[in-house]
Amino acid sequence: MQTRELLIDTDPGVDDALAILMAHAHADVVGLSIAAGNVGLAHTVGNALKLVEVIGVDTPVFAGCPVPLILPAGDAGLVHGADGFGDTGYLPCTRRAADEHAAAAIVRLAHERPGRLTLVALAPLTNIALALRLDPQLPSRVARLVIMGGAVTGRGNTHRVPAEFNIGFDPEAAHVVFSTWPAFDLVDWEACLRHAMAFDRFDRIVGSGDARATFYAAISRNARAFNQAQGRHGMIAADALAMAVALDPGIIRRAESHHVGIELGGTLTRGATVVDWEDRMDPPANARIVLDVDQGRFEVMVARALGSPVLA
Ligand code: BDR
Ligand code: CA
Repeated sequence: MQTRELLIDTDPGVDDALAILMAHAHADVVGLSIAAGNVGLAHTVGNALKLVEVIGVDTPVFAGCPVPLILPAGDAGLVHGADGFGDTGYLPCTRRAADEHAAAAIVRLAHERPGRLTLVALAPLTNIALALRLDPQLPSRVARLVIMGGAVTGRGNTHRVPAEFNIGFDPEAAHVVFSTWPAFDLVDWEACLRHAMAFDRFDRIVGSGDARATFYAAISRNARAFNQAQGRHGMIAADALAMAVALDPGIIRRAESHHVGIELGGTLTRGATVVDWEDRMDPPANARIVLDVDQGRFEVMVARALGSPVLA
């Protein structure tokens, strides 16, 4: 397994929480840069702080941009709860976020660790776009970028049918990143649908873990019910799948590299990820699109992150 240092840009969020738990169980996490997205920034920052308290670490948390770069966007409170963590009424963490903007922290941490960081993008790309504008050389300082986002054949999860949430929330930020970052791994929503965790297996893992699992069981209850009500065949944990790919690229079974661009206009298609599947256009491939991963190894990583012996 690859054991690079991770910097996670995230908008916790139930599936972000699982991804952050996985990261701390399997690698060194140098920081959490926080975006608005699933819910507003005050909640996503508070959720990140609470989660590191539950894990028992002092990973720094950096608050980022409270709004998308250009146009306002709706949140995903319907899935994640109005507070982003299932409205459990948890006792807030007393620790505060660091006194540095998330975009500045991304630039600084990459400078301090040249060629060592894996940057994992689990949120709208607002902070990373700002970091790129602050430091256009950022991609050369980062070992690897893994993005959870997009819907590569147009099966999105927002009211704009082809748009996936992270891209659809801030398409301009996604455009900045996709048009300037030369090579990244893309874990899209459709891959996440294919790699849902069967409900019975998910329940056994969550029900047999330690304090991390107890906390995660509480915050994920609403999201699990939402998944079931949608008729999905299991729990979709999009950010956890992206984190598994970030932690261990060896779990990738099938991937294709192509150019992916972001639709910024379009009455029906704003926020779509447009893939040049046949490499007919000029821009070279920027994205390695993950199409299939080893489900068993993914679920083992999830189980370990929750302290569960199931599958581990
Ligand atoms: C993505 O959007 C958010 O709701 C999730 O946390 C994930 O990052 C899935 O489309
Ligand atoms: Ca997220």
